[in-house]
Amino acid sequence: MSDADPRPALEAVRQRRSWSKVTDAAPTRAELLTLVSAAGRVADHSSLRPWRIIELRGDDRLVLGAAIAAAQGDSSPSTKPLRAPLLVAIVASYRASEKVPRWEQEAVASGVAHTLSLLLDEAGWGVIWRTGHYTRSAPVAAAHGLGENEELLGWLYVGGKPERSRPERRKAVEARAHVTRMPGVTTTPDEFTHWRTESKKTAKARKAEKKHKEKKRKEKRPTDWAAKARKAEKAARRAEKARAKAAAVSHD
Ligand SMILES: Cc1cc2nc3c(=O)[nH]c(=O)nc-3n(C[C@H](O)[C@H](O)[C@H](O)COP(=O)(O)O)c2cc1C
Repeated sequence: MSDADPRPALEAVRQRRSWSKVTDAAPTRAELLTLVSAAGRVADHSSLRPWRIIELRGDDRLVLGAAIAAAQGDSSPSTKPLRAPLLVAIVASYRASEKVPRWEQEAVASGVAHTLSLLLDEAGWGVIWRTGHYTRSAPVAAAHGLGENEELLGWLYVGGKPERSRPERRKAVEARAHVTRMPGVTTTPDEFTHWRTESKKTAKARKAEKKHKEKKRKEKRPTDWAAKARKAEKAARRAEKARAKAAAVSHD
């Protein structure tokens, strides 16, 4: 993190883009592992880690090309996987859970893919997430050795960023068009801030009320007369003992 850039995540996200054409350079396995380890830190309900990654390099890509052809009924292998030196297959591996449904687990796997893609881009690699109607076909699943509880989310095609690529016009995201309120809500966001302050006050008032109720409850507790009598008896016995002791001393 440089001094001039105190919010590197914000800048990394703003700068990222998909690279449909990449060079033959690729991150090493060690570098990939470092980035996968970081990407795996995404929010993950119950920490199920419902994902895994398959690294395709060299001839692995021919296997995928053949599987794509089989899925499409083509006679020759697809050359699509050869568009990048490294393909990172993202697999959703659904875990048995009563609490976390499949869609949540898929959201986690997708989060890992997006984060990894961002980290690769930030590290200087060109990335594009690719899919196709063959993504969840049986031949492609078999080529990746997927289990019954697994589904592919596609591949991150990774390579070097070509030096002389056309500057892309970034499409701005109009946040106001994507951030709305619930239907029928008339308060402004500023009123919401006010509501939060009120809410804090309410919490304080609730605490005071609880304390007051507790006090009242204690006051209302019925008197245990038997216990009081036992206590008085004990005190009387103690006094009697003390008196006897004092009398013995004075006789000596
Ligand atoms: C789940 C997913 C699947 C995608 N599949 C493809 C694809 O098959 N082919 C492709 O060219 N781009 C694919 N993309 C990349 C998008 O086309 C790309 O992100 C979009 O054009 C916006 O460009 P940008 O990433 O440079 O902002 C996919 C992206 C996601 C998230």
